[in-house]
Amino acid sequence: MGKIFVDACKGLETPYTPVWMMRQAGRYLPQYMAVRKEAGNFLNLCHNPKLAAEVTIQPLDIVGVDAAILFSDILVVPNEMGMKLEFLAGEGPVFDKPIATQSDLDNLIGGEDAASKLTYVYDTIKLLREQLDARGDNKALIGFTGAPWTLATYMIEGQGTKTYNICKKMMYSNPELLHKILKKVTEVVKLYMEKQIESGIDVVQIFDSWAAAIEPSKYNEFSWSYMVEIADYLKSKYPETPIIMFPKGVSAFIERGLVYGNFDVFGVDWGTPMAMAKEKLGEKYVLQGNMEPCRLYDKAATTACVEGIQNIMGGKRHIFNLGHGILPDVPVENAIHFVSECQRVSKK
Ligand code: CP3
Repeated sequence: MGKIFVDACKGLETPYTPVWMMRQAGRYLPQYMAVRKEAGNFLNLCHNPKLAAEVTIQPLDIVGVDAAILFSDILVVPNEMGMKLEFLAGEGPVFDKPIATQSDLDNLIGGEDAASKLTYVYDTIKLLREQLDARGDNKALIGFTGAPWTLATYMIEGQGTKTYNICKKMMYSNPELLHKILKKVTEVVKLYMEKQIESGIDVVQIFDSWAAAIEPSKYNEFSWSYMVEIADYLKSKYPETPIIMFPKGVSAFIERGLVYGNFDVFGVDWGTPMAMAKEKLGEKYVLQGNMEPCRLYDKAATTACVEGIQNIMGGKRHIFNLGHGILPDVPVENAIHFVSECQRVSKK
């Protein structure tokens, strides 16, 4: 028997529609908080394969999801390119020297030299591969990367942003430099994902969390085309490894029929009507999503949404998920309820 999650990514029939949650290994789980405390802080946890593997597995046992997602962060990539990264309590990620000029970019480590520094990620995957195979329950392991654009927003702004004004100033006044940054990141990401696959992941997910910061007519040029390039590279070497593309906030882009490329699954964010995504993309891609994560605060609101999505998708070419990450104050029992409801309504 194949892994139900991998089969679903390939559009094959499965006994029920598999489910996982973005950010499923995280702060809503007391067991995660305990391991993070043991590690000292979040980055130490990412750097410790034994503990990172432990928190990756937690949601399989506690919440009952059908796939594990590697515990790490998208920002370890710019960190290993030479940008000093810190996670400040209450403020999120901060880079001390953002990229502003060509010489800042030239100082960054690129290509194989950067990708081969991420050994702790590959070691975590190898450990997880052994542990998951030993369980024998056919749960899949998802590896991931940030999209070059989403990574570049942090590299240029130096931190999270509401306005993206520094990177958008570069987009309109010095697009050549922005493209050079995106190209350098793309080259590292290609090799990084290749090494994740070689280390044992089953499926790749690309997060373009800040896709919606770009106006639709510029989105292909500054983000989508780079992800198509990454997918083409991976597919030419690993045609059997499914790729999930999750761009958040691009319903205008979907509606205009601008989505193309060598992906297997399209992650639908919670602001995009599933029926529209199905009409526009359902034949080309398996669809993943898309419950609004805040519905998790209420069990009845969760069930109503799961049933609504099931009615639209009919258990075909679909993977249940949230339309973005689970929030830290969601009760664990509500997450368990979501997962079991997805499995219940879709059982054949
Ligand atoms: O369970 C999983 O999904 C696997 C692990 C994972 C993390 N980050 C752990 C994490 C994954 C897949 C990510 C991806 C990630 N990281 C994204 C894309 C996904 C998305 O949510 O859109 C982005 C934009 C980041 C960057 C990042 N990391 C931010 C902005 C923050 C701070 C904000 C926040 O939620 O606290 C992080 C920290 C982070 N990454 C935490 C976790 C569990 C919280 C850190 C902690 O434990 O204190």
